[in-house]
Amino acid sequence: MSAQDQEDVYFSTNPPPRHLEAHAAQARAFIDAHAAAGRRVVLVTSGGTTVPLEKQTVRFIDNFSAGTRGATSAEYFLEAGYAVIFLHREFSLTPYARHFSHATTGGFLDFLEVGQGEGGGVRARPDVSAKMADILSRYHTARTENLLLSIPFVTIGDYLHELRAISRLMASLGPRGLLYLAAAVSDFFVPPERMAEHKIQSTDLGRRAQEAAAAAAGQAPSSADSSKQDSEEEEFDNFDSSPRVPRSKRLVIDLDPVPKLLLNLVDGWAPRGMVSSFKLETDPTILVTKARYSLERYQHHLVIGNLLATRKWEVVFVSPGREDNWLRVKRRGKEWTEEDVKRLRQGEVPKEEPGEEIERFIIPAVKDLHDQHIKANE
Ligand code: PMT
Repeated sequence: MSAQDQEDVYFSTNPPPRHLEAHAAQARAFIDAHAAAGRRVVLVTSGGTTVPLEKQTVRFIDNFSAGTRGATSAEYFLEAGYAVIFLHREFSLTPYARHFSHATTGGFLDFLEVGQGEGGGVRARPDVSAKMADILSRYHTARTENLLLSIPFVTIGDYLHELRAISRLMASLGPRGLLYLAAAVSDFFVPPERMAEHKIQSTDLGRRAQEAAAAAAGQAPSSADSSKQDSEEEEFDNFDSSPRVPRSKRLVIDLDPVPKLLLNLVDGWAPRGMVSSFKLETDPTILVTKARYSLERYQHHLVIGNLLATRKWEVVFVSPGREDNWLRVKRRGKEWTEEDVKRLRQGEVPKEEPGEEIERFIIPAVKDLHDQHIKANE
């Protein structure tokens, strides 16, 4: 099947999110305003996508991403003069708020205290007040100058619909548009025709009730409920029978691959923009090869490789016609030795926290490549 056919099938069979049109209208107005002002626009995708198991979703598959990379990058892009569309997983980290909402030292209420006397109100704790004022003022500038547009998604389907709609709008920016894809995109999903409508039942009673209701309504049971056929026989099978749990008691989930739509994005949705994606691996021996493979397969402009364990310490820029470029943060109070770097590259995490945010180095390096992209394509 061609990439276009795959795209058509995916988008015609997976329903769009409820607010897609409203989000697209917001993105259009945002892009038009910044294009008129000659400002660059970056689309930053951030956070994990969920894979629902039921249409009326009680259960879903998720991944580890908290959206740190995306939210942090968005701040540095704003600092670098970009207007930012922040397409993020709902309730994941967001620019500026991230410093307080998910601090390891406590929740945001821990940064506040009640003022003295009557009508004392609420104020920032004196020891964090200066930092809060600085971040708050940067946030207010981004908001009042309309430099940051936040659009949420939850499921993999929502994400892909939003990504396509916004990327197509970014096309009007030509080479000045930058797509920075940092979301952790699910590779597998349950297609709608195989998805149970209701909460998948874990007991025979629940399944029988569901079956009776479906029969009364003249409907065939959904395939997610098919294990109930085995429930009375307490059947076992032999392909994963350790521990030997009857099939009727298990939930076997059958996932299809999510189509690789990066090709469609690069060729069709935003063909003149600069496209930069992330490649995540856990095995250090394959990171660079997989990043290069991704670049060759999708023919875009930059793949930033990172390992799950060391992603806050080091990344590698892989781009056409250039040497691999490793970016690494400084250490607190010590220099990197050759041996340290070797261990880091093998996925060994230093004991202390990174001395700074690696996005401080990533964003200027991406901007540099974007400058070159604009020069070559405008
Ligand atoms: O949020 P944090 O905790 O800070 O973590 C940041 C991060 C590790 C999630 C981020 O730095 C990162 O690596 N994001 C990409 C994760 C990912 O989806 O990697 P991948 O190797 O599975 O996918 C590689 C590329 O293929 C991605 O650009 C994606 O857009 C694309 N893809 C993926 C799946 C799919 N079905 N179609 C695609 O086109």
